[in-house]
Amino acid sequence: MRQTLRKYWLGAVFAVTAALGGMAAFSAGAAEPAAKPAARVVAPEAEVCKGCHEKYVETYAKTKHGQSGNSKGPDCQSCHGDATEHIKAGGGKGVGGIFGFNDKKVSADKKSGVCLTCHDSNRHLTFWDSGKHKKNDVACSSCHLLHATPGAGSSIALKTPNPSIGPQQTTQRTLEYETCTACHKQIRSQLTKPSHHPIIEGRVKCTDCHNPHGALSHAMIKSESVPALCLSCHAEKRGPFMWEHPPVEENCLTCHNSHGSNHNRLLAEKAPNVCQDCHDAGRHPGTVYGGEAGWGGPLAPSTRLIARGCLNCHYQIHGSNAPAMRGKFFLR
Ligand code: HEC
Ligand code: HEC
Ligand code: HEC
Ligand code: HEC
Ligand code: HEC
Ligand code: HEC
Ligand code: HEC
Ligand code: HEC
Ligand code: HEC
Ligand code: HEC
Repeated sequence: MRQTLRKYWLGAVFAVTAALGGMAAFSAGAAEPAAKPAARVVAPEAEVCKGCHEKYVETYAKTKHGQSGNSKGPDCQSCHGDATEHIKAGGGKGVGGIFGFNDKKVSADKKSGVCLTCHDSNRHLTFWDSGKHKKNDVACSSCHLLHATPGAGSSIALKTPNPSIGPQQTTQRTLEYETCTACHKQIRSQLTKPSHHPIIEGRVKCTDCHNPHGALSHAMIKSESVPALCLSCHAEKRGPFMWEHPPVEENCLTCHNSHGSNHNRLLAEKAPNVCQDCHDAGRHPGTVYGGEAGWGGPLAPSTRLIARGCLNCHYQIHGSNAPAMRGKFFLR
């Protein structure tokens, strides 16, 4: 049995073994990678593992890595290291220097290092090293499922079960956000607020806005700035406007939240408060609900400042091309 195994290790394990640094005594050092069979169901060595790990062989075969025709894909030992001693000893957790991704004592960097021996040049991963995930001990396998969930899809899926049907879940597709919010609980709670980007509805994904593999930008967003990100979808807010509203150019998040809010239109605060953070001493705005301070006077309390009052008149709040006063003051 060990003879058969060795034949396949020569190529498959070499690169990874080297990268992991003396994982196990591996003598065939400088050998050329052995030519692999062109079509296979799973790595041939899997037959050896199967006797003891049937479930893992089957779930591996369901992934893109394990599918037939993917001759460049990893074998069991590309990821788990040289298993000679493991098998000789009859298996066991950590026995024979086997590399276990669920082993908490193994650092995230080491786990990711296994994947990066092959995926280093993927352009999605260019900024992995400077990303928040790597810096906070999140490994590739924290998000990616290298052994598929039985019955669910065949891609190297994210760790996301099919969503259950709920009033807000209008799709049966596997939704990416569930992988993310398993850790990002605070974001999860924002997604169900009355106003939210349609993420749980499956129309927008976390990765439409973020690169989970790292980016040099603020909060790993996919654009150089927040307004550039927002405008990539909300192009109608882009301008140029004859009459611009300075905070809009500066940062959409002065007034909006990015994930969810209890106020309409993802507003960070409700109107008129959202305006009066900046406009307090103007000609007509004043104390929020004070009758006198508005234009109403004591006998006719102002309604202008109530609810979305400001916006009833200052409708073109993101900028306007209307002529004269209508434009200058963002009026209808
Ligand atoms: C691309 C990398 C990769 C390949 C290839 C791979 N695995 Fe895994 N394996 C993992 C990761 C990551 C985990 C941890 C997550 C999990 O338990 O599903 C894991 C978990 C396991 C476990 C359970 C470990 C534990 O801690 O209990 C076994 C057993 C296993 N794999 C065997 C195999 C066998 C057998 C093959 C070949 C058919 C194989 N693996 C191929 C990455 C891989
Ligand atoms: C003779 C049976 C046997 C064979 C053959 C065998 N294993 Fe294991 N392996 C075990 C046992 C038993 C465990 C401990 C499982 C547990 O505690 O849940 C184990 C654990 C593992 C683990 C988890 C290690 C850890 O520290 O978390 C991995 C990964 C693994 N085996 C991979 C493989 C691979 C890959 C092969 C084939 C190249 C293989 N095994 C062949 C019996 C075997
Ligand atoms: C021995 C090389 C090798 C190793 C090690 C390896 N991969 Fe891969 N991986 C591949 C190849 C080859 C493909 C298939 C590329 C293709 O078909 O486009 C692939 C595909 C993928 C894909 C894309 C799947 C899809 O559905 O499009 C992901 C995600 C991935 N690997 C993640 C990982 C992770 C995470 C690890 C580490 C646990 C890992 N890989 C380890 C070679 C490797
Ligand atoms: C925080 C979660 C997360 C982590 C950590 C993560 N990924 Fe991914 N990965 C994703 C998501 C989500 C996608 C699909 C969306 C996308 O393309 O951005 C993806 C896609 C991929 C793809 C397919 C990209 C393509 O070419 O289409 C590869 C390959 C991949 N990841 C490899 C890795 C490797 C290697 C690591 C570790 C160095 C890693 N990932 C870490 C979430 C993650
Ligand atoms: C419409 C674009 C967009 C989508 C979709 C999105 N985000 Fe964000 N996210 C942002 C922006 C912009 C920031 C920066 C916020 C700031 O500067 O206050 C951010 C910040 C973050 C932060 C760090 C700051 C914080 O609020 O804790 C995390 C973590 C985060 N997002 C995770 C996620 C996750 C997880 C998802 C999917 C459930 C997601 N995001 C979906 C745009 C988005
Ligand atoms: C295994 C846990 C885990 C998973 C899964 C995970 N993250 Fe993270 N993420 C973290 C940790 C830890 C940090 C760093 C601390 C923080 O900012 O919360 C982080 C940071 C971030 C940040 C940067 C926040 C900042 O302030 O710069 C963003 C954005 C983010 N994650 C998005 C995602 C997305 C999108 C996904 C899903 C594709 C995801 N995360 C999946 C653990 C995780
Ligand atoms: C990937 C595309 C995309 C990006 C990037 C994006 N949005 Fe959205 N946004 C949407 C979609 C889709 C909707 C829902 C529109 C609908 O229901 O008609 C939406 C809705 C909104 C709404 C209205 C919410 C409501 O309750 O009516 C606001 C406000 C908003 N986005 C602000 C932002 C801001 C601020 C940013 C930048 C942080 C941003 N968007 C980035 C796609 C995007
Ligand atoms: C000065 C505060 C402020 C800033 C800054 C701001 N918005 Fe708004 N935005 C609002 C208000 C108030 C509403 C609600 C308008 C209404 O209810 O009539 C709104 C509504 C929206 C809507 C949903 C309704 C619609 O008009 O389609 C989108 C989308 C939106 N804003 C995108 C953006 C983007 C993108 C940016 C940055 C380029 C931005 N906003 C910057 C105050 C602001
Ligand atoms: C972050 C601060 C900020 C917020 C919040 C803000 N504005 Fe402004 N607004 C400004 C600045 C700065 C100007 C430019 C003033 C100037 O040119 O004298 C301006 C100009 C205006 C003008 C045109 C006034 C003029 O003299 O040209 C109107 C009308 C206006 N804002 C209404 C609103 C309304 C309504 C809201 C709430 C939806 C709001 N603003 C929220 C900072 C803000
Ligand atoms: C009934 C319509 C109406 C409502 C409601 C209203 N405005 Fe105005 N606002 C105007 C008009 C018209 C102007 C043009 C200049 C003028 O006639 O005073 C103006 C001018 C302004 C100006 C620029 C002049 C100055 O005073 O600096 C700002 C800033 C402003 N409004 C903010 C607000 C804010 C904030 C609210 C909500 C608290 C609000 N407005 C509610 C109609 C309204």
